[in-house]
Amino acid sequence: MHYSQEIIDEICRRNDILDVVSSHVKLTRKGSNYFGLCPFHSEKTGSFSVSPSKQIYHCFGCGAGGSVITFVMNMENFSFTEAIEYLAERSGMTLPKPVESKEQREKESLRSRILEINREAGKFYFYMLRQEAGKRAHDYLTNRGLSEETIKNFGLGYAKTGTNNVYGYLKGKGFDDEVLKQSGLFNADPKKGFLDKFWNRVIFPIMDIQNRIIGFGGRVMGDGEPKYLNSPETVVFDKGRNLYGLNFARSCKKNNLIICEGYMDVITMHQAGFNQTVASLGTALTVAQANLIKRYADEVFVCYDSDEAGIKAALRAIPILRDTGLKCRVIDLNPYKDPDEFIKNLGSEELEKRMEDAENAFFYEIRMDERDFDLKDPDDKTKFYKNIAQRLLQLPDAITRDNYLEAVADKYHISEDSLNDMVKKQAVRAENIRVYERPGQLNPKKEIERGCLKVQKNLLTWLCDDKALYDIVRQYVKPDDYSDGFCRELAEGIYRMLEEKKLNPALLISRYEDEERQREAADVLNSTPDVPDDPADKDRALKDLIIKILSDPLPGSGDSGGILAAIERKKRVEGLKAEFAGKRLL
Ligand code: GTP
Ligand code: MN
Repeated sequence: MHYSQEIIDEICRRNDILDVVSSHVKLTRKGSNYFGLCPFHSEKTGSFSVSPSKQIYHCFGCGAGGSVITFVMNMENFSFTEAIEYLAERSGMTLPKPVESKEQREKESLRSRILEINREAGKFYFYMLRQEAGKRAHDYLTNRGLSEETIKNFGLGYAKTGTNNVYGYLKGKGFDDEVLKQSGLFNADPKKGFLDKFWNRVIFPIMDIQNRIIGFGGRVMGDGEPKYLNSPETVVFDKGRNLYGLNFARSCKKNNLIICEGYMDVITMHQAGFNQTVASLGTALTVAQANLIKRYADEVFVCYDSDEAGIKAALRAIPILRDTGLKCRVIDLNPYKDPDEFIKNLGSEELEKRMEDAENAFFYEIRMDERDFDLKDPDDKTKFYKNIAQRLLQLPDAITRDNYLEAVADKYHISEDSLNDMVKKQAVRAENIRVYERPGQLNPKKEIERGCLKVQKNLLTWLCDDKALYDIVRQYVKPDDYSDGFCRELAEGIYRMLEEKKLNPALLISRYEDEERQREAADVLNSTPDVPDDPADKDRALKDLIIKILSDPLPGSGDSGGILAAIERKKRVEGLKAEFAGKRLL
């Protein structure tokens, strides 16, 4: 269901954010903003703020933020459309029949059809687990220690042997082939037609935070390849933006989340009382998933497998989690392989203790690095210390770095001064190459992308904060100049509104249906730009932002068609550098 921008605008106008938030949160005025205790995470001092002039809320503690629509979506667990309808009713507005483009309508209808298919398939698998054919699967789960209640809670099921079971069932329910094809539940065979993708497997439905089934994982019983088969990504299944178990974990009120690797781990953990546990969906942890975690917790425990693969995965996940501002610790499961085995052998109380003893993620990183060096060899020892210096450089700010420097120097008996010198040297080197290379094997290109994303967002934030800037910026940077798709989209909206001299952040945020996107947009629109006070520095900062944004290759610039444009762009940057050298923009 889609409503026109005018309607959404009207809804935002009629529902003052202060009114709506006030009915849930006690707010006190401080200057032009209002503050209170954040309803989205537990806290003792109010870091939740509402700006009546911008019609936006933002929590400095957990990063929640958005427009009145976002607030209602989060508070009431509504979808975008539900929030619109709720707010319309609240303000006595009658909604017209939604106008949508044909494309939107088709996409929305495809999404809801696929969700229906998933729900039906989930019911079918669930039912089969309790039939004669599913007995072995049911026994398998019971033998793995799952109670009937747990099996039911997680909606576990069974896909029986044969290639036409779910297909036949869904056809009988009236779904047509075109939609079934896009559900990811079938393999299309040129001769035999549609074949069930899952057969003779235990089924784990994967749910989003609104408890809707978005995909499935299927496990062989016993040995066999592949051990797990997962649904492919579909219009409703984005593996990088969801977490298994989060639909339960989000409301457990524990202020921390535990992240482990597998579905079975999550289920066993929940059964053992650790109902704050989640797992990624068979892929490495993404930034979007870390942001998702940050919305529900301040601290995260990494509880990955204790084998080499698990260590590697933890070392990749830690910087991502830390960069979102999460406090991060690592649970040691030795001598057991994963949380599931640990609990079976030592029980939940012992795991509780391991949680208490969980190692600070920074020390974990260093301890894991240490394994590659022979500390009896002086040269190796130097290399190890250099490595520590590099790790210190990745920490988000100077104070944190100082504190860790002190702690790590103490732990490894290094002189603080020498270590500090080393950090400085490394910083200079890192500055030259512009990208900090992680000792781990994070893709350096990714880092550059992230660096530039920050720059793009910062310029947009600055534009929203200081509208006078627009007349200058628009001469140099057009929306199409932003390499990041999200920034480009946001820039289009911001530029258009500034052109018409009516910037409405709430309206821009409301264009996104995805909560995560709304939050990201609110972040750009409602932050204070990171710019110096001194006028000359400020001028330099602006030029620097413009040059950096224009220097970043645009998507497609490597294609044959894009190369000429890339050369043009490069020339333009050279020209601007010369132009900027001789004049002030501000
Ligand atoms: P159990 O052996 O059932 O205890 O599995 P586990 O929960 O311990 O999972 P494991 O550590 O083996 O794997 C972690 C996660 O990686 C699983 O939950 C799956 O999402 C994914 N995974 C594991 N094996 C495969 C596979 O063969 N193919 C794919 N696509 N994903 C897999
Ligand atoms: Mn396991």
